[in-house]
Amino acid sequence: MAGGIGARFWPLSRQHHPKQFIDILGNGETLIQATFKRFTRICPPENIYIVTNEIYKSQVLEQLPLIHEEQVLCEPSRRNTAPCIAYANYRILQINPDANIVVAPSDHIILKEDLFIEVVTSALNAARENDWLLTLGIQPSRPDTGYGYIQFDESRSYAADSRIRKVKTFTEKPQLEMAMQFLASGDFLWNSGIFIWKLKSILAAFDKYLPEVDQLFRAGIGKYNTAEEETFIRKTYTICKSISIDYGVMEKADNVYVLASDFGWSDLGTWGSLYETRLKDEQGNAVVGQNVMMYDTRNCIVNMPKEKLVVLHGLDDYIVVEDEGVLLVCRKGDEQQIRQFVNDVLIEK
Ligand code: GDD
Ligand code: MG
Repeated sequence: MAGGIGARFWPLSRQHHPKQFIDILGNGETLIQATFKRFTRICPPENIYIVTNEIYKSQVLEQLPLIHEEQVLCEPSRRNTAPCIAYANYRILQINPDANIVVAPSDHIILKEDLFIEVVTSALNAARENDWLLTLGIQPSRPDTGYGYIQFDESRSYAADSRIRKVKTFTEKPQLEMAMQFLASGDFLWNSGIFIWKLKSILAAFDKYLPEVDQLFRAGIGKYNTAEEETFIRKTYTICKSISIDYGVMEKADNVYVLASDFGWSDLGTWGSLYETRLKDEQGNAVVGQNVMMYDTRNCIVNMPKEKLVVLHGLDDYIVVEDEGVLLVCRKGDEQQIRQFVNDVLIEK
């Protein structure tokens, strides 16, 4: 899935250049390149499909030279992750109705790759044997309201892999108070947003929980992988509603299972999560920029163009970011609001 705009990472992440296409860690690799490389350890490149907005098609092909044009599924508009998955489902149905699928975001960081590969392989084995919707769960470390929270059933683990448990409740992006209660209770995990299932299981779940979305894409059977696909998809997206897989399916389904693991995951969804992965100075500041002078400033994440001279005084727990002529100064605790700022601002002038 590579069609989001990473709005909370604004202004570094822009509509024409969202964060999956950026080398956000500065290690010579964009997030989508790292994700692709990771998954080639699980399946051959020709089995990897990228669903993205049509405006990013050329960036995908440029950044991933092993991907052929027909492996890029182009969306004419943004409808969130449920339609993105429904589109891929029907494209894959035409190729292999018995497929086992890993659905993954393109903008996550995974530090312990060997463990991740082992975990996904085990999850694929479990999904092959069972009609389950499996997600990978992460031990939460803060009451972040940008994630899905999964309550698992301690007593119901899977014999072949005891890390896999039945899910009792799935709550997407709770309010802060609820997130704090979830964290305190100890039996909740974060949803990593990486899903594993059989094509048959996810098709059945769409049919049950999002039938209107399922029917729209089902109507295209026979057109996928033909010259008619583009016109069909264009029409379908104009009438399809916008909804995430988390709200549309995962919160409602009763066959959700979670595999809990610690593979050094970070969503890097926000400046706050990037701050956590960065090296900090003695005052707890994480700074990118060569000309930043700080006085009485603590716990800030600062990202400034090289040439910019910046003087900060008296800031505690702030985000200070400038990119391409846009300056953002925002309290770290309020960073979920950046989405709203982006909506309010005309980003592309
Ligand atoms: N093709 C396509 N089309 N991809 C999309 C679209 C779309 O309209 N919208 C988002 N994506 C892609 C994003 O680029 C990202 O790779 C992935 O789908 C997830 O979307 P996000 O917008 O980043 O979701 P989120 O981070 O708010 O929430 C999800 O991930 C969290 C963990 O990172 C949920 O699954 C949460 O439950 C989860 O905790
Ligand atoms: Mg995300």
